[in-house]
Amino acid sequence: MDLLDWKNLPFGYLKTDFNIRSEFRDGTWGKLEVSTSEYINIHIAATALHYGQEAFEGLKAYMGKDGKVRLFRWEENAKRLMLSAEGIKMAQVSVEMFKEAVFQAVKLNKRFIPPYGSGATLYIRPLLYGSGAEVGVKPSSEYTFIVFVTPVGPYFKNGFKPVNVIICRDVDRAAPKGTGIYKVGGNYAASLRADVAAKDKGFVTSIFLDAKEKKYIDECGPANFFGIKDNTYITPKSESILNSITNRSLIEVAESLGIKTERRQVPVEELSEFTEVGECGTAAVITPIGKIVDPDKNKIYEYCKDGNAGPLTSKLYNKLVAIQKGDAPDEFGWMTVVE
Ligand SMILES: Cc1ncc(COP(=O)(O)O)c(C=O)c1O
Repeated sequence: MDLLDWKNLPFGYLKTDFNIRSEFRDGTWGKLEVSTSEYINIHIAATALHYGQEAFEGLKAYMGKDGKVRLFRWEENAKRLMLSAEGIKMAQVSVEMFKEAVFQAVKLNKRFIPPYGSGATLYIRPLLYGSGAEVGVKPSSEYTFIVFVTPVGPYFKNGFKPVNVIICRDVDRAAPKGTGIYKVGGNYAASLRADVAAKDKGFVTSIFLDAKEKKYIDECGPANFFGIKDNTYITPKSESILNSITNRSLIEVAESLGIKTERRQVPVEELSEFTEVGECGTAAVITPIGKIVDPDKNKIYEYCKDGNAGPLTSKLYNKLVAIQKGDAPDEFGWMTVVE
């Protein structure tokens, strides 16, 4: 009997056997410990709870047809967690320590890695937070690092199909020179008002504009944005968006397919010139966008009129997913087999 109904897994949390933890005290990290508990014992004055000293990462392990388990560009997640830690003045986790914790968490929970072809993957969630007690606003002197994993089904149940999104002008997720480039919990808390309002109106998520001028596209919910026109993949350059690893990978994939790429400011009006648009991130790789509604300007931008993703979006998606699953050669050296 299968451990789980792999083909019908939600994109949600399911308990696995083990997680990995370490504590930073007196200026050094302790050794990585294996835990079977899903809970943490946290001080009531921990800086994570009061001042949002918390950062996380998200990456996936893929089971290949050959039975090998592969991680996609884990070093980039390790480096981004270091950047986020520095961004909110937390102790950093080294790339080596990140690797050891992530690989151990995957190996110890091997029975939860969804089989090849199920459409599901093992989602890995490294988490770092200030665990020391402070009452004044200052960085903690103690930190906790945890890596847990959970098997997840596809982010969107309908698969690789266009979704509708709405432009948000009354909420900013992050400001230039703020914390938008860091993967810290506060950005996500700040995005929830917009996200709930979008969902209440029947949209999958909202597009955030640059907070200063409200002229340029920033991000699309918890994902980066891209538009395609004239055989060119165009994605926003902004001081307040997360540096998506998926987006950077799509840029390289695009170039390998002879598609030109540009990273620059993307004015909202340019939406009328794109022939394909989408959002990208670890969770869904690419989500094609079928319709963008701009209620304040009374405008609707439509794409994918036949109900399917556009040709270049599909090409990019298929190539990147094939590399991640181990179906296509790892021509960029992005995959690490978990031995
Ligand atoms: C705000 C935000 N932007 C973009 C992304 C996509 O980043 P990545 O491709 O590294 O998963 C994510 C998800 O991690 C995110 O939370």
